[in-house]
Amino acid sequence: MWSGSGSGGRSSEVGRQSDFDRQASSFDKRAGVGPEAAPVIADSVVRISELCARDLVLEIGSGTGEIGRFLTRGSWRYLGLDASLGMLRAFRSSDVGDRGLLAVADADRDWPVPDGVVKAVFFSRVLHRLDVACVASQIRRVAQDRCCVLVGRVHRDPNGYKDRLRDRMHEAIVARGLVPRPGRSESRDILGMLRGGAGAVSDAAVAIGPDDVIGSGDVVGSGDMIGPVDVASWTSVGTCEKVLSGWSSKDSLAGVSLGAAMCRDVVDEVGRWAVDAIGPLGSEQCETERYTLSGVWIRGGS
Ligand SMILES: C[S@@+](CC[C@H](N)C(=O)[O-])C[C@H]1O[C@@H](n2cnc3c(N)ncnc32)[C@H](O)[C@@H]1O
Repeated sequence: MWSGSGSGGRSSEVGRQSDFDRQASSFDKRAGVGPEAAPVIADSVVRISELCARDLVLEIGSGTGEIGRFLTRGSWRYLGLDASLGMLRAFRSSDVGDRGLLAVADADRDWPVPDGVVKAVFFSRVLHRLDVACVASQIRRVAQDRCCVLVGRVHRDPNGYKDRLRDRMHEAIVARGLVPRPGRSESRDILGMLRGGAGAVSDAAVAIGPDDVIGSGDVVGSGDMIGPVDVASWTSVGTCEKVLSGWSSKDSLAGVSLGAAMCRDVVDEVGRWAVDAIGPLGSEQCETERYTLSGVWIRGGS
């Protein structure tokens, strides 16, 4: 595993990933997409981006490799970048195929990838944490002549217990005079930026918003745009207690650095609310979640 970071101007994210380092051993169990969805998502990435032998697929924020490990098992090459050494150690301890390479790197700085070599760039559940302008310029730099950029997102039931807990947590953060980081339009932002920029294959494409979901299995796009396509769905079973205990091990919530004490305070407040609004914290809750891929084909080298 290569360890280093780029030479961009901002201070490095590497080393500030303690939340993910701490979560690494339990991440898949607590927040993973699950063992059935992960290979299906990886297969969809391969199919949509038309990966062939020796192509290079680059995953940004590869985490524990729950999805990425299935991308290391083809005739193409795989490079996973992540700022958290802990997450990458968990990835490496899984069954990484011969063509898989992992590197510690901050995606908000120059990526340790040569110019013009990447056939597909894949982001799963990470883009909202990144500097979209920097990411867009790095994509254009590393992209080969025809490159597929794919963004994966989990959509939860907006009336389900997880989104209700999250909405209440955002309210508690706002009540403390802080602003949760918006996380809903990041894929539209970056795909629109790539589509509209010099790297776009054509200007005739019409962007399809991330919430305009196309029927399962249909890979459609208008011009250069891809999806959003539903590629997997599953029933998630859990408890409010489990969600809250995941939050309580963090220093930041909703992209805001709160510090451990304020985090605990917010979590306690949401817990008290949940007992009244949802029920006993330990009672089992079910909801359906679905995973979508959105993307764009671009021309590299711009
Ligand atoms: C929510 S996890 C998603 C992991 C994986 N992509 C998935 O869907 O299972 C986010 C991952 O992005 C990584 N990450 C966050 N900020 C990053 C940055 N600036 N550069 C590189 N990786 C980053 C974290 O370390 C973590 O492994």
